[in-house]
Amino acid sequence: MRWNEDFIEEVRVRNDILDVVSGYVRLKRNGGSYFGLCPFHNEKTPSFSVTPSKQMFYCFGCHRGGNVINFVMEYENYTFSEAVAHLAERVGMQVPENESTSAERAADYLKQRLLEIYKKTGQFYYRALHSPVGKKGYEYLRGRGLTDETIRRFGLGYAPVLPKDQSLYAYLKNEGYTDDELKKSALFRFTEKGVSEFFWNRVMFPILNERNKAIAFGGRVMGDGEPKYLNSQETVVFEKSRTLYGLHEARRAREGYLLLCEGYMDVISLHQAGFNNSVAALGTAFNERHCMILRRYTNEVILTFDSDGAGQDAAKRAIPFLKDAGIMIRVLDMKPYKDPDEFIKNLGADAFRERIKNAKNSFLFEIDMMRKAADLSDPAKKTQFEKSVATKLMEFSDELERNNYTEAVCREFSIDIGSMKRTIASMAAQGYKVPEQTKPVSHPSRSQREEEAREKALNAQKVLLTWISEKPSLYAKIEDLITAEDFTDPIYAKVAAEVFTQAKNGEVQPAQIMSRFTGETENANRIAELFNTKLEHAEGSDLVRAFEEVVRRVKEDGLNNLAKTATSVSVIQSIMKQRSRLAKWKCDTLE
Ligand code: CTP
Ligand code: MN
Repeated sequence: MRWNEDFIEEVRVRNDILDVVSGYVRLKRNGGSYFGLCPFHNEKTPSFSVTPSKQMFYCFGCHRGGNVINFVMEYENYTFSEAVAHLAERVGMQVPENESTSAERAADYLKQRLLEIYKKTGQFYYRALHSPVGKKGYEYLRGRGLTDETIRRFGLGYAPVLPKDQSLYAYLKNEGYTDDELKKSALFRFTEKGVSEFFWNRVMFPILNERNKAIAFGGRVMGDGEPKYLNSQETVVFEKSRTLYGLHEARRAREGYLLLCEGYMDVISLHQAGFNNSVAALGTAFNERHCMILRRYTNEVILTFDSDGAGQDAAKRAIPFLKDAGIMIRVLDMKPYKDPDEFIKNLGADAFRERIKNAKNSFLFEIDMMRKAADLSDPAKKTQFEKSVATKLMEFSDELERNNYTEAVCREFSIDIGSMKRTIASMAAQGYKVPEQTKPVSHPSRSQREEEAREKALNAQKVLLTWISEKPSLYAKIEDLITAEDFTDPIYAKVAAEVFTQAKNGEVQPAQIMSRFTGETENANRIAELFNTKLEHAEGSDLVRAFEEVVRRVKEDGLNNLAKTATSVSVIQSIMKQRSRLAKWKCDTLE
């Protein structure tokens, strides 16, 4: 951690969570909380809550939650330090020198310098595009149908050829960057003969990261010429395999799906036509790292790769990665045009929207690819093709869905449906395995029952912590009975210890407790849940009984858990003593 805890705590306290979140999400008051549509998952009815008294947010739909720092981390994809620094600045606090090691400092410093270099370079190219030297670049882009607004939004520019003293190199040197930094920026070639610019006489596309910061550039020749596109080499801030062009905007689109296409111009045309949920993998094949990033923002991707052979092959390669990441895939038919850019230029946005609506499940696309590869006039090959189709059909675990697709595919490829069904049945009989997660389960197995019991135990622990944090005076009722060790999950146990200590002093501050555990989003979400578990809606004596039941359950599970590993006599005696105390324990009132 870079700063001391007091500083972090002050940043947190001075940034009221309702204020901060309201800047991102429209919220409506409901009792002691505010509700809105969750910014982290796609939903139609609000399950995202902000509770000022707890200084916490929590989504009952996707179970993300935390304090104000967690919110900013999640929303802006910041590291912990970046989120703290951002919030400190927001309330005008001085950010103290951080306490990282000198190696960390040096690496951070270089990254920061490179980002500055790219920002200034982007501005330099943008200015050039709008000056006489860049006129042909500007005309080229306008000629391709881009508006001034689009050019501005994507920060498009032009890499000019200028006298040495006005060059990008001279400009950046003059701004105080060292040769070493400029070398590491990959914007220049350093040779014995001198320094030359990597990009010249090209229209320039800054590549922005998710935080809107330029991390690299792509340049296109105007007209024909080789190579058509030239991309920056990788640097410490630019990893091709995890960069998606357009993501800085697409990640906020929250359309429910993302459009995945091939090129710079496709993304830009799509955004200009109103499809600001489109992204492209650039200068490298779409891979699983791209998938992991996409998965953070969506569970459905519509492939809008080029309709030529190369594009279709690329789509075929991308599908397994997406499937593995659990992303639903549809494939858009762009014919008769080559790519989204050309399609939109010719048929417009409405026609494209129609194609989105009609985009096929990737299954039919894959079958289509298989058919194209097979020579169906050869009976042996046709049989082979039908077998492959059957294999693919068996991936559908839902019978109705499988039948629908079987019919559709047989109709489309003139396959006899009866024979297809027989093939499927015989493959099933020969022990073809349907993928694991789709196996039907009729009886809960032993491990499943254990899992359910564990769930119930954890839920009781969550409810108890929510209860105590909302009404700290209740702690007095259980003080002699429950300890943090009764919480079977290590994280819950740690949180319980904090909650109990604070409850003793009369007030529990969940958001403050959160801060101790931040850094890992996954933990943050789990902890947030501890303070936001739904309580019983009972009243009077029913409520007392509900409380008793939760307490009993937590204690019993805690003791059972302890008993499983107990070996020493003293521990076993202690368990017995606690059991008898639990048997006598009773709660008359919650007041
Ligand atoms: N690409 C590349 N280097 C090349 C050619 C292509 O990096 N020499 C990448 C670029 O990111 C490009 C994408 O592959 O945007 C798709 O290439 P292509 O289909 O050839 O270009 P278009 O997107 O159609 O570009 P344009 O419309 O400008 O011709
Ligand atoms: Mn194109």
